[in-house]
Amino acid sequence: MTSRPQALSSEFVESLQQVVGDAHVLTDDLAGYGTDWTGRFIGAPSVVVRPANTSEVSHILQLCSKHNIAVVPQGGNTGLVGGTLASEGHVIVSTLRLNSLGPVDAASRQISVGAGATVEQVHEAAKSHGLRYAVDFGARGTATIGGTIATNAGGINVLRFGSTRHQVVGIEAVLPNGDVIEHMAGLIKDNTGYDIASLLCGSEGTLGIVTAARLRLLPLHTSRTTILLGYGSTEEVVRVVQKIRHQFDSLDAAELFYEDGANLVAEAFNVAIPFVAPVYLLLEFSADVDLASDIESHLAQSNFAGLSAVAQDELGRAKLWRLREEHTAAISMHGVPHKFDVTVAVSDLPKFIEKTRQGISETNADWTVFIFGHAADGNMHVNVLGPSATDELVDEVVLQVVAEFKGSISAEHGIGSAKKKWLSLSRSHNEIAMMKAIKGAIDPQGMMNPNTLFAM
Ligand code: FAD
Ligand code: MLT
Ligand code: ZN
Repeated sequence: MTSRPQALSSEFVESLQQVVGDAHVLTDDLAGYGTDWTGRFIGAPSVVVRPANTSEVSHILQLCSKHNIAVVPQGGNTGLVGGTLASEGHVIVSTLRLNSLGPVDAASRQISVGAGATVEQVHEAAKSHGLRYAVDFGARGTATIGGTIATNAGGINVLRFGSTRHQVVGIEAVLPNGDVIEHMAGLIKDNTGYDIASLLCGSEGTLGIVTAARLRLLPLHTSRTTILLGYGSTEEVVRVVQKIRHQFDSLDAAELFYEDGANLVAEAFNVAIPFVAPVYLLLEFSADVDLASDIESHLAQSNFAGLSAVAQDELGRAKLWRLREEHTAAISMHGVPHKFDVTVAVSDLPKFIEKTRQGISETNADWTVFIFGHAADGNMHVNVLGPSATDELVDEVVLQVVAEFKGSISAEHGIGSAKKKWLSLSRSHNEIAMMKAIKGAIDPQGMMNPNTLFAM
């Protein structure tokens, strides 16, 4: 591989301007694009280019390939693993102008959207046709469809509907050499060789730029019930989740958090906590019948005599959800966290959480730890405040505990630049070799997102 230029020539910048227009080639004040959401990963991109359509993306990649310039795709920049980290001489390709939406195809229950459309825009479009897009999480207003495909985003409804990969029924993408892949018919049965859409899900911008996708939509149920429960221990929460899941197909979400996190959110955003408990479990159900009394009688039969708050209207539900969803922002208000997004077997959650807390406090008793996450998936978010951004000791400690439990070092956020050093804790030598072979075949120059996933 020939070495890359660190400074971009004016001739190259002018050729980008010819493709997208001067206004969409940015060379100054790039900090907003260069710094990740957490503030932990600070890059130094030389140029940000904002194409308006697939053909412009193709021309940009042809130019970058010709000049051997590295490309970092960027959507809403809400990623939490430094996946958009661009070094000097790198070009960030922002997909925000690729934001076409719909129309909703009610007959097939599908929608075609540009990669820059936000998750929330897709929710709104689906809702106006009595439908629903299954992927949902706190950053819905900013995270893009392209970003969620590139990270195979999970979120709060995975337990019922699966992750982003399960919703993508068609894809359009531009490969590093500028070739366009287009497979957007949305056929549900289509065994014609490798599943390219699936390969691009979770590829973290290392194989090409997703420019559009066709997404599966689901019926929007008429009734939603959200219930906050209080428990004394993680063990109890795990037991309840397993039982409720078995009993109710209508369970959409089962989110766990602790008293310390709830207090942090309450202070940061002036949100009321309905009752005090050491551990909280937030459940959400959706169905075409009102489930509140069924859920309550199930809890009564399970001898649940604890504290609870139930909401079925939008405002009440939103108040309960804020307590959970504002954890990320509330933590970041107190510093730059080291964030770990990991999975272990659900039954191992109590022990895993205990060992993780113990490992962190033995390493440095002054660090503060906040844990919350998606209980039914065994997916916890471990957040540590205290270590400097570049101190990786805590990363080593937490990810080794995950490996001891045979867990995954990335449940839903991806590897990015944050965890590439530890990829071998979750993937075998042969798996990594296969991934590198795929990468080498599609991107022989290694120009796509070189700081992310693994070093070639
Ligand atoms: P970016 O941050 O811009 O990019 C993320 C990665 O995708 C990068 O590697 C980038 O190079 C690549 N990429 C972006 N667009 C493209 C494209 N069009 N083609 C190819 N590669 C591309 N994530 C979850 O999974 N579940 C959650 O519950 C969740 N909750 C969150 C809550 C908050 C408050 C925040 C801030 C983040 C949360 N996230 C969550 C993380 C984040 O929102 C997701 O990873 C999301 O998918 C990123 O989308 P984005 O458009 O912001 O992508
Ligand atoms: C969440 O579930 O809220 C997220 O994935 C965000 C985070 O880990 O902070
Ligand atoms: Zn999450």
